[in-house]
Amino acid sequence: MAARSKTSRAEPAPAPAVPAAGSPLHVAIVMDGNGRWAKHRGLPRTMGHRAGVEALRRTVSAAPDLGVRWLTVFGFSTENWSRPASEVRELMALPKRYFDSDLKRLEREGVRVRSVGRRQGLPEDLVTLLDEAERRTAQNDRFFLQIAFNYGGQADIADAARRLAEAAAAGRLDPASVDEATFAGALSTAGLPPPDLIIRPSGEQRLSNFLLWEAAYAELVFQDVLWPDYAAGDLSAAIDIFRSRDRRFGGAVADDILVAG
Ligand code: IPE
Ligand code: MG
Repeated sequence: MAARSKTSRAEPAPAPAVPAAGSPLHVAIVMDGNGRWAKHRGLPRTMGHRAGVEALRRTVSAAPDLGVRWLTVFGFSTENWSRPASEVRELMALPKRYFDSDLKRLEREGVRVRSVGRRQGLPEDLVTLLDEAERRTAQNDRFFLQIAFNYGGQADIADAARRLAEAAAAGRLDPASVDEATFAGALSTAGLPPPDLIIRPSGEQRLSNFLLWEAAYAELVFQDVLWPDYAAGDLSAAIDIFRSRDRRFGGAVADDILVAG
């Protein structure tokens, strides 16, 4: 049997039915390790990507019960275009694979879908599909699934800067008024709070151009499981790690301030 992950480990505990206090409201995931998962099984990378869609399905269904309200997933980065054309084609086909089987259920279960990233350069039928998913779920508010597709943190920051510069040049924006809130409002992720927790499975420990602005105070959790194997117990374990962290947002803990005098 192929290895489930790089390191062997005990099966994680099942997710609790009632989310504990202090759970992250916005979780973002770099869905990584599809290629290695396939390779371990002697399968083409394509099969790893398809298995990754199953992992997304499991994660979207597990997240609300763990107290998560917003989930952002990295589906395709602005740098993924450098992969072989056949793999790019397969990656472009994944949203259709996911929505064909799941959009009705997402719609029915109150999940709102939004995609962020550059639409420019995507096949027309994919743009139509992403628009349709957004339109059909626009009234939902139980859970929010944000899919980063043809997304790059630097590209998104550059696009926001250009939009603000254009508004200033057109006299619609006073340059002196641009602050962090203005800038965040010009990003494609505007409207959602920044992620509390960013998870990267597959053992890699980097952001790879994901949510660069938004990650300012996110807790980072790296897990040694390949994305196609990702299960509810892994999400629950990442959330437990998050809950054990001490978030200070650049401030200090009240007790320490008193001790320091
Ligand atoms: C993630 O799996 C899928 C995307 C990047 C779109 P990878 O294809 O990066 O898998 P590895 O890293 O080669 O195992
Ligand atoms: Mg990878």
